[in-house]
Amino acid sequence: MSQNNILEVENLNVRFYTYAGVVEALDSVNLTMRKGEILGLVGETGCGKSVTSLSVMRLVPPPGKIEGGNIYFVAGSNRHSVLKMDDGSLRKMRGKDISMIFQEPRAYLNPVYNVEDQIAEVLLEHRKEEFLKAAIETHRKKRLENLAKAKGAKAAADVEKIGKVSSTFEVNTYKKLARNPRSLAGRFLAKFSRQRYFKSEVRKEVVRILKSVEIPDPERVARMYPHELSGGMAQRVVIAMALACNPTLLIADEPTTNLDVTVQAQILNLIKQLKKNLNSSILYITHDLGVVAQLCDRVAVMYAGNIIEMTDVFKIFDKPLHPYAQALLESIPRPGQAFKSIRGLVPSMINPPKGCRFNDRCSYAMEICLKIKPPFFEASKDHYVACHLYGEESK
Ligand SMILES: Nc1ncnc2c1ncn2[C@@H]1O[C@H](COP(=O)(O)OP(=O)(O)OP(=O)(O)O)[C@@H](O)[C@H]1O
Ligand code: SF4
Ligand SMILES: [Mg+2]
Repeated sequence: MSQNNILEVENLNVRFYTYAGVVEALDSVNLTMRKGEILGLVGETGCGKSVTSLSVMRLVPPPGKIEGGNIYFVAGSNRHSVLKMDDGSLRKMRGKDISMIFQEPRAYLNPVYNVEDQIAEVLLEHRKEEFLKAAIETHRKKRLENLAKAKGAKAAADVEKIGKVSSTFEVNTYKKLARNPRSLAGRFLAKFSRQRYFKSEVRKEVVRILKSVEIPDPERVARMYPHELSGGMAQRVVIAMALACNPTLLIADEPTTNLDVTVQAQILNLIKQLKKNLNSSILYITHDLGVVAQLCDRVAVMYAGNIIEMTDVFKIFDKPLHPYAQALLESIPRPGQAFKSIRGLVPSMINPPKGCRFNDRCSYAMEICLKIKPPFFEASKDHYVACHLYGEESK
């Protein structure tokens, strides 16, 4: 794995075993992401964008199965083989190292909990110790202040010296609350001053995160329920949840598709800003090439379960190499020009065409395209294309 890569997907195969037949959703997908970049994953509906991102989190739903390949992810100094991780390590990785923004925020938010509780849940899953320490420290300071007021500064200084202020009892009661803040016992405990400090530390962080995604009046929004939020606001809350633990890799699956253009522009600016501030890498899934041009550093184009071209954003718009990528770019509507479409239909993923999956729609199809799946060729530096036109045989 190159030093600069944060994610490497190698020859990934995913199938869905449905009553209608076996859906070959991903067929040897190869993808790399570098540290701190925004990689756009583009392609028509059903080409496998969401299944690729779900595979990285190992969240492919049944009847889907990851049947081959490797996924490597780097978190700090550790390199993980995602497909070999045990359940405990996977749970720790999800939400903390890799998090995801889904296309439909309302389907993701729980309607019966307010915004604060939902963000707190993520924080308590991954950053509990941090809040325990902060609460114990605040409580210790408060007690010393009270002691100084009642018995004088010297008495307070003496107590601080022998370190009697944070007892095991305090630590344990904070831990109880941290384990289940929504439980009756949690709420009951929160009434006592010690636990109030813990809750207030978590609340402070929730408000800070809501502010960082430019939510106006974050204290009020923290108390709101999903049905009280506008579409743009709900999407910002979902982004806030995804950012709660400063993930190394953020996966955004069409996060602006259902938003109007002004809110879409605000969310895109926000994502750009967050990338700058947090230095996270972002896998941005979309079928909107305008968004790709504005936001992404590199682009991977997908077609029928394959990545067919991957390079930087300027090269893809300037000189796309794969016949499908060329046709896709030509089909962008332009004022005064007739609509152009790609001839034929996207193939069924149950029994897809042999060889190159684009062969029945491609004007350049050759004998070899009907039999052999084209591997990735490096046509020029950092410009990869899966098409026989760029293989040794055609030179
Ligand atoms: N739960 C499922 N059961 C059966 N097939 C599925 C399931 N989920 C996805 N697929 C199939 O896997 C393929 C890839 O689907 P995927 O959702 O990744 O497409 P996509 O590129 O994200 O499309 P869109 O742009 O519409 O979101 C499709 O052919 C789809 O029918
Ligand atoms: S491999 Fe062959 S069929 Fe596929 S895109 Fe290239 S030329 Fe067309
Ligand atoms: Mg999708």
